[in-house]
Amino acid sequence: MEKHSMLYEGKAKKLFETEDPSILLIEYKDSLTAFNAQKKSTLSGKGSLNNKISAYLLEFIGSRGIPTHFVKIVDETHQLVKKVGIIPLEVVVRNITTGSLCKRLGVKEGVELKKPLLEFYLKDDALEDPIVTEDHVSAFEWASPAEVEILKRISLEVNKLLKERFLQVGIVLVDLKLEFGRTPDNTVILADEISPDTCRLWDISSGEKLDKDRFRKDLGNVLESYREVWERISKGEKR
Ligand SMILES: Nc1ncnc2c1ncn2[C@@H]1O[C@H](COP(=O)(O)OP(=O)(O)O)[C@@H](O)[C@H]1O
Ligand SMILES: [Mg+2]
Repeated sequence: MEKHSMLYEGKAKKLFETEDPSILLIEYKDSLTAFNAQKKSTLSGKGSLNNKISAYLLEFIGSRGIPTHFVKIVDETHQLVKKVGIIPLEVVVRNITTGSLCKRLGVKEGVELKKPLLEFYLKDDALEDPIVTEDHVSAFEWASPAEVEILKRISLEVNKLLKERFLQVGIVLVDLKLEFGRTPDNTVILADEISPDTCRLWDISSGEKLDKDRFRKDLGNVLESYREVWERISKGEKR
């Protein structure tokens, strides 16, 4: 599929129009950002790994009945997706406490939650993606009450499917961030990406971090960890 004009360049991806107005081409970039882009770097090969991991996971959950924007992988760094109107929310599902949750509430790190904890954040870089309640979501009409129910149901289902899938390869899904969009007929589908940039993944035996926290916390071996995730899920091995 031919690349047309660039629609948007984000921190991790570029979106291009294609000859089909309902389909976009996503290019996964090698850039890595954290703390609302205050920390930036480039890692050659990161885009390709995230393109493959995201395609794999979106296809996997699609095969389990979750509606997603994923159409097909094109090459190392590109995939085709259905164009949606992005709902300006980030849905975070947490299985284990860490990160901003612990910082904000002073709760202990690394505690397994009795049931998954779901949070909404407003997708707004200028405001540093503030956490919001369901009442904020409905007061400002970022999503309708019926859509909120769909976001919650799909997010919890994706968490369940991926938690099981990662466990099979010796990885604990600690938390994940999802984005959703509306198709032209107003169906809500899962969009964006699912990758070590957007999930926290810990090795089950060593507890070693295999995700973007390696970059956030300067732990080193960022690319090697992303490659480890890809090798484990694509080969289905525990190691
Ligand atoms: N299917 C889609 N249709 C339209 N926009 C999308 C789709 N999937 C993802 N997006 C948007 O593409 C943008 C580019 O991705 P990214 O580089 O991760 O951006 P950001 O810097 O906002 O995180 C994001 O704002 C995301 O919401
Ligand atoms: Mg992003």
